[in-house]
Amino acid sequence: MTLSEAPTTSPALVTTALEKSYHSTEPPTRVLNGIDLAVRQGEFLAVMGASGSGKSTLLYCISGMDRPTAGNVRLGDLDLTELSDRDMSRTRLTKMGFIFQQAYFLSNFNLRDNILLPALKAQPKERAEVEARVDAMLQRFGIAHVADHGITQVSGGQLQRASICRALATKPAVLFADEPTGALNSSMTLDVLDALTGVHRDGTTIMMVTHDPACAARADRVVYLRDGLLVDELDLGTWHQADTSRRDGELLSWLRDHDF
Ligand SMILES: Nc1ncnc2c1ncn2[C@@H]1O[C@H](COP(=O)(O)OP(=O)(O)O)[C@@H](O)[C@H]1O
Ligand SMILES: [Mg+2]
Repeated sequence: MTLSEAPTTSPALVTTALEKSYHSTEPPTRVLNGIDLAVRQGEFLAVMGASGSGKSTLLYCISGMDRPTAGNVRLGDLDLTELSDRDMSRTRLTKMGFIFQQAYFLSNFNLRDNILLPALKAQPKERAEVEARVDAMLQRFGIAHVADHGITQVSGGQLQRASICRALATKPAVLFADEPTGALNSSMTLDVLDALTGVHRDGTTIMMVTHDPACAARADRVVYLRDGLLVDELDLGTWHQADTSRRDGELLSWLRDHDF
């Protein structure tokens, strides 16, 4: 077999004609109008668009937190839209990691236990392995020294790095992030972006929704959402520190073309 015939890896995530309407309003609010999107294995994808354009809805419908009105979503070989609620919950727990603007930690547990609990629920028979993995991540993301602190005793940046650890503790196939730096100042934002960049380098597929160009500039590819449709994409390639200003310039000019 020659190199050009080598099989390409199948995408990690594929949506076909994905639609979402909310029927709680009269008339119903149509938010996603037929989204066809493929996220490659190991890709770091950013989704941008104006506020209210449907970015979060897209992330929720793809990750099974909400059900699309029509269309489907495939995670590897699995058709998520076919799954029962119970199988969907299991799939979310074992194959997906989530980071939100807020960390949503339990206040009666310390940082480490907040990270461990969901992973132990997913992999109850692998306690030692899960604990070792979590402790290694706490070290790596620079929060091992606050692991036994209560969640009100650490900074916002530390909390958000902890939520990355929590999301990765099950070794998910895909990491979903919705405005992961939305509540952080610029130095904490940099810490979190560096953490995400490292996670991407390890080969984890990432889909991140953001309205912050500094975040999107870390991604391999940026797609733009308008009126519930993906209207454009920008291929930035793999992020390198030395390349930052060229990427920022390219992204900002692309965003201006979209009146962002
Ligand atoms: N549960 C809901 N019921 C009705 N409309 C909703 C609901 N959730 C979101 N929307 C509407 O869907 C649109 C897209 O919202 P969202 O996905 O949160 O946008 P973004 O994340 O891009 O800011 C908005 O107009 C919002 O008002
Ligand atoms: Mg949103």
